[in-house]
Amino acid sequence: MTDTQPSTEPSGSTASLENLLHETRSFPPSPEFAAQANAQPGSYEEARANRPEFWAKQARELVTWKTPFTETLDWSGAPVARWFADGTLNAAYNAVDRHVENGLGDRVALHFEGEPGDTRSITYAELQREVARAANALAALGVTVGDRVVIYLPLLVESVVAMLACARLGAPHSVVFGGFSADALRSRIADAEATLVITADGGYRRGAPSALKPAVDEAIAPREGDSETTVRHVLVVRRTEQEVAWTEGRDVWWHEALEAADTFHEPAWVEAEHPLFILYTSGTTGKPKGILHTTGGYLTQVAYTHKNVFDLKPETDVYWCTADIGWVTGHSYVVYGPLLNGATQVLYEGTPDTPHRGRWWELIEKYKVSILYTAPTAIRTCMKWGEDIPGQFDLSSLRVLGSVGEPINPEAWMWYRRVIGADRTPIVDTWWQTETGGIMISPLPGVTAAKPGSAQVPLPGIAADVVDDEANPVPDGGGGYLVLTEPWPAMLRGIWGDLERYKETYWSRFEGLYFAGDGAKKDEDGDIWLLGRVDDVMNVSGHRLSTTEIESALVSHDIVAEAAVVGANDETTGQAVVAFVILRGEHANRASDAEGAAQVQEELRSHVAKEIGPIAKPRKILVVAELPKTRSGKIMRRLLRDVAENRAVGDATTLADSSVMDLISAGLNAPSAANED
Ligand code: WT7
Repeated sequence: MTDTQPSTEPSGSTASLENLLHETRSFPPSPEFAAQANAQPGSYEEARANRPEFWAKQARELVTWKTPFTETLDWSGAPVARWFADGTLNAAYNAVDRHVENGLGDRVALHFEGEPGDTRSITYAELQREVARAANALAALGVTVGDRVVIYLPLLVESVVAMLACARLGAPHSVVFGGFSADALRSRIADAEATLVITADGGYRRGAPSALKPAVDEAIAPREGDSETTVRHVLVVRRTEQEVAWTEGRDVWWHEALEAADTFHEPAWVEAEHPLFILYTSGTTGKPKGILHTTGGYLTQVAYTHKNVFDLKPETDVYWCTADIGWVTGHSYVVYGPLLNGATQVLYEGTPDTPHRGRWWELIEKYKVSILYTAPTAIRTCMKWGEDIPGQFDLSSLRVLGSVGEPINPEAWMWYRRVIGADRTPIVDTWWQTETGGIMISPLPGVTAAKPGSAQVPLPGIAADVVDDEANPVPDGGGGYLVLTEPWPAMLRGIWGDLERYKETYWSRFEGLYFAGDGAKKDEDGDIWLLGRVDDVMNVSGHRLSTTEIESALVSHDIVAEAAVVGANDETTGQAVVAFVILRGEHANRASDAEGAAQVQEELRSHVAKEIGPIAKPRKILVVAELPKTRSGKIMRRLLRDVAENRAVGDATTLADSSVMDLISAGLNAPSAANED
């Protein structure tokens, strides 16, 4: 089912991406912005002169160490790096306590805004007490240094507290996005061998409470063929007051456990390379990878990038990153980066259109948000809703805008700048990955003349390049694969429990280079333009999904014999999941009329939602009689993408049976299952 060889063709449509490179607009920083900017043009040169030393300087300035480090980078165990290895520290102490010790206890850390409109502002001093209490509560449940804790929560203050409580104990957290299914949760709990799960009764989603606890119950229930769960306790936050099933002795209410706990807790001082978290992400195979991040290097890079890329002035800025903590953006730029820098930020539980389509802009006006970090999908959705909606709110507090998760098309970039940023704010298009831990390629506000649609330059201390099939750097104007050529502090330290897979996935394509999985081009100035994934990874609304994982989910359904999944271009979500399935013999005629096909589609869509989560549901499922395969049996997704994007089917000469595509196209023109939801 996999086609692991990367092809030079990006998953997006090349035609529109070619146009990108004819983009000539450029927005130099205003003299006023440049004069006050945190980022300094000299940093590039300084870092180039001695990259490890540059990071060591940041580590000393931005992070507080219990024991100072004397070693900077040890790359002798490549590709597993060790940064600042003989230093000791604690992530939660750095995020919270030291600010209180420095007299900043009264500063608001989080302005929480629940979807139903309930609010709560929590200062650093309050956060410190909550985290200490939670750490004591977790310890009372037997959690100790090195234990893994799975967090399955909506975006709440408690979610931030839970992550920091784990960090305080030196117990790596593994946050699983609340939109993932019980099955997805089950496999992540099992892989991490977690002993505790922190969840909630439910959360609010589009105006209604939606339950979470039942998925946890299902995920840890005994199942034939599975070994017994490692989970000893489930800690439950009360959010929606829904009825919950309760297992005495195992389940514990969060509020009761915290009430009983002391507000003093001595942090666990851990070594810089102690695991801070595991975060599962999709790869090119069916099994999600547990990306492992450690403490010292990670904190250094997220603090440095958060301060410089967003120009954070903690005394005056109000920062808002719209990501959920279930993704790496939430880890690095909701929790660790901003809190390490003592920022005041907005935390919003809900969706942009609940209860109305102006909710985000209303929040920006209300809290006078000055830095906004969001995804291109959200920007394109707002574009579609029309500029009169943001036009009704006072957005004049904004001074820096950020974008992350997928390539941002120049139209969306221009709209973001003009409508949201009043033609005044710098925009930072930040390229990075779960694996990189922190931002890697981005303009620096106040320094870089920004180009709409390009992430442009590796940050100071980061070395990236675009190479051809033979690993040769391409000349300016050329295209190929994005690689990272030197180790960086926040880089992943491996895949949990599978070092071989780490080496194989990232380090085997090009000797000594980290292969990111993205296609990229260099323009005439040497600036980098990201072109989308070149492997079997899709990007839907900035969420990473694996074609293989969805294919596996589909074929696990009784009626499916074979499945092929592709990411088709989509104006709003970047890509959309389109599946082609062959039904098993006895079910083959179920999709012979429109009604039957619609039924099959619905059945399979819910099956994928159950196996992985609603975010992975295919937009369209097309029932076909054959799939296009090469003579060696590889599915030619390129051709299926042509079909999914309503294009003329490309070169099919390497197909084992060249009539297959005619068959598929003919089938599609008949009444089909291709209804959208
Ligand atoms: C993939 C990583 C980084 C946090 C959110 C996603 C794509 C990310 C950009 C950007 C073009 C981007 C890449 C990358 N991507 N940011 N600014 N421009 N593409 O993290 O889920 O690990 O996904 O997202 O394809 O490989 P992730």
